[in-house]
Amino acid sequence: MNEYDTELIRSILAEKGFTFTDSEQDADVILLNTCSVRENANRKIFELIHRIRHDRQGVPAIFGILGCMATNLREELISDPHLDLDLIVGPDSYKKLPDLIQKAGKEKSFDIQLSDTETYEDIYPNRESAANAWIAIMRGCNNFCSYCVVPYTRGRERSRSPKGIVNETRKLVKEGFAQVTLLGQNVNSYSYKDTRFPDLVRQVCDVEGVKRVWFTSPHPKDVADELIELIARHPKLCKHIHLPLQAGSNEVLKKKNRPYTKEHYLTIVDKLRAACPEIAITTDIIVGFPTETDEQFKDTVDVYNKVGYDSAFIFKYSPRKLTKAERDYKNDVPEKVKTERILLLNDLQQKFALQRNQAMIGKTLESLIDNIRPNAVEGRTIHNKRTQIAAKTSEIGKLRLGETLSVKIHDATPHLLKCRLADSHKNP
Ligand code: 5AD
Ligand code: SF4
Repeated sequence: MNEYDTELIRSILAEKGFTFTDSEQDADVILLNTCSVRENANRKIFELIHRIRHDRQGVPAIFGILGCMATNLREELISDPHLDLDLIVGPDSYKKLPDLIQKAGKEKSFDIQLSDTETYEDIYPNRESAANAWIAIMRGCNNFCSYCVVPYTRGRERSRSPKGIVNETRKLVKEGFAQVTLLGQNVNSYSYKDTRFPDLVRQVCDVEGVKRVWFTSPHPKDVADELIELIARHPKLCKHIHLPLQAGSNEVLKKKNRPYTKEHYLTIVDKLRAACPEIAITTDIIVGFPTETDEQFKDTVDVYNKVGYDSAFIFKYSPRKLTKAERDYKNDVPEKVKTERILLLNDLQQKFALQRNQAMIGKTLESLIDNIRPNAVEGRTIHNKRTQIAAKTSEIGKLRLGETLSVKIHDATPHLLKCRLADSHKNP
């Protein structure tokens, strides 16, 4: 979502005549678009600010923090003399950026107001050429998972019109993008007048010329049967769902304010696999939520063993300002226990990821090319699995981003399918 927001910001600034440089040394204005979801995201930004200031050796620039850290840490950011920021702007105020930058030349300038309606519907993001284009179809979150800062930093849920999204997809196809990915904090909470998420996905998939469609991230509480059917049946829709579990224990899920049970989650997985046996399933897990016992953690391991995820992001719980968990619970699971749990899950994850990828050896599939380097080509299968394609330099020279090639998988690692071009590899 932040990458997409940066594309929006680029578009808003370019419209007002700003130009961009890759070098932090040359810039007159330096804006960091930030995430606040976990503690180490904050830490990375503080380190980056100090590094850039050090490298510039006192050469002045207008320095600004945008995004979730701006809303989450406003007071700390404003009052910290070491950071000495000129500009602090939250995720719903980007349209004001050109004015705020002008103002920041004279005095410090802040806007962290959240909006119930801003969707940036009228801004066409300034995207860098790639195979995939992101489209944020909804913003914000109303779920208030007890550990999560997003509802406080990004505000309430709001959805863009289906007409705007479909028109944007058509425009992207004309510009040569092969894939669109529909984005949202809770993508399947999408709701605009009579249009619900499965209707929207169908409309986007039906746009002529779009080769692939994906969406992320859905919430397990809202996975409609109609959506499962669509994943199974629509040839353009990726056979991959990122379905955050967060924890396997029903007591922990309750404390996390995740309104589903382990059993319900596993039922969705069964339905997905029954409808689409090849589907890749990935997840997010937080280990060491306050009071999580070894016994409760075993439920997470149990779900892992039952689902056999293709990949997973596993995080240690970190308390976030403003959240219910930070207010009401002590961060009482020792760091050492969190580390043990993460290592155990990572080991399991490697094993399942390798198994799932090895099961694809020998298959011939289409790979959508999204990275062309002088001596290597990479792409993704319809399951969003990364493929590394061996090809001759003469062949690489003729390839384009967004092209699909027929490839045969001959080897696999947990994160990669190694392929060769199939005999008749060019697809229309
Ligand atoms: N601590 C650790 N991980 C968190 N996430 C969200 N909030 C926290 C937190 N306080 C993780 C969740 C979410 C992902 C984007 O970040 O797993 O799905
Ligand atoms: Fe955070 Fe939960 Fe909303 Fe996801 S659904 S953004 S984890 S509050």
